[in-house]
Amino acid sequence: MTRKIRRIAVFTSGGDSPGMNAATRAVVRTAIYNDLHVYGIKGGYEGMMNADFQLLTKGDVGNILQRGGTILKTARSKEFMTKQGRHNAYENLMAHEIDACVAIGGNGTYTGALKLYEEFDFPIVGVPGTIDNDIFGTDYTIGFDTAINTAIEAVDKIRDTADSHNRLFFIEVMGRHAGYIALHTGIGSGAGNIFLPEKENSIEELTAFLKKSARRKKLFNLVIVAEGNKNGDAYTIASKVKESCPEYDPKVTIIGHLQRGGSPTCHDRVLASRLGYSAVNALLEKEYGMAIGIIDNKISYTSLKDAITKTKSLDVDMINMAEILAM
Ligand code: F6P
Repeated sequence: MTRKIRRIAVFTSGGDSPGMNAATRAVVRTAIYNDLHVYGIKGGYEGMMNADFQLLTKGDVGNILQRGGTILKTARSKEFMTKQGRHNAYENLMAHEIDACVAIGGNGTYTGALKLYEEFDFPIVGVPGTIDNDIFGTDYTIGFDTAINTAIEAVDKIRDTADSHNRLFFIEVMGRHAGYIALHTGIGSGAGNIFLPEKENSIEELTAFLKKSARRKKLFNLVIVAEGNKNGDAYTIASKVKESCPEYDPKVTIIGHLQRGGSPTCHDRVLASRLGYSAVNALLEKEYGMAIGIIDNKISYTSLKDAITKTKSLDVDMINMAEILAM
């Protein structure tokens, strides 16, 4: 596409994450500063297919920087995965004379954005918005910092009661197939063990450790369980442990969607502002089909294709460190 960009649209898609509003605000205000018209698409790809577009002003994005969730709403769209769905979405973009889009979301959002870029040569860039922090091409995703702070606060509270009652707790955190939330929550809360998707965790090793501890009358322990780990959910692991360690009465807490809400931390607000601002600049520089990220505190562009297909691996040294510090 070589046409000059005059009108852009912004949308959020997939699981919401704290800081998405700050990113939307940055996109809208940077666009207006550059004399562009900017539309908000409601409900992600669903809104694109249903032509749910709204012209946004500077004022429309006032007082949202500090709010969790997304004022643009979000969805996980099955219909957009069909050719017909994407065709309808593209027709609506053309009918509204939208020249380019900023897609804020995670892997699913990027997959949809890449389809629009490849199938219709439509100018689009991605901004990483997911609590999972699992996107290649950026050190941090919007919402991750808030999510781990929420998780830490919950674990600290559980620690109080676990310690008082001398009890073992299994605390499950989100992250889908990635252990970023679990690893950071585990290190930050001083957990005794962390079950990660990226690591072979042994229930036998854990029970041997717990038995040793029980001989010293210490039944208090905190184990962080990433939802995507290979041993099953926190309830499954807790019941296996109970079978071989009857001296324990393990408790389970699933932090769940609490991790997705709340006011974004300052880190997430600044990150979202930088990424949203840079996304509009990338469109003006004709860097289409790119995922905007931050690497070593500098803005960087990675192709949407790489962002989707390459894996951002957990730092092995951090995993080792977590084990050493938990001794
Ligand atoms: O991708 C964000 C995330 O919160 C994951 O950590 C989790 O696996 C998933 O979304 C839950 O999705 P939903 O809210 O649709 O159940």
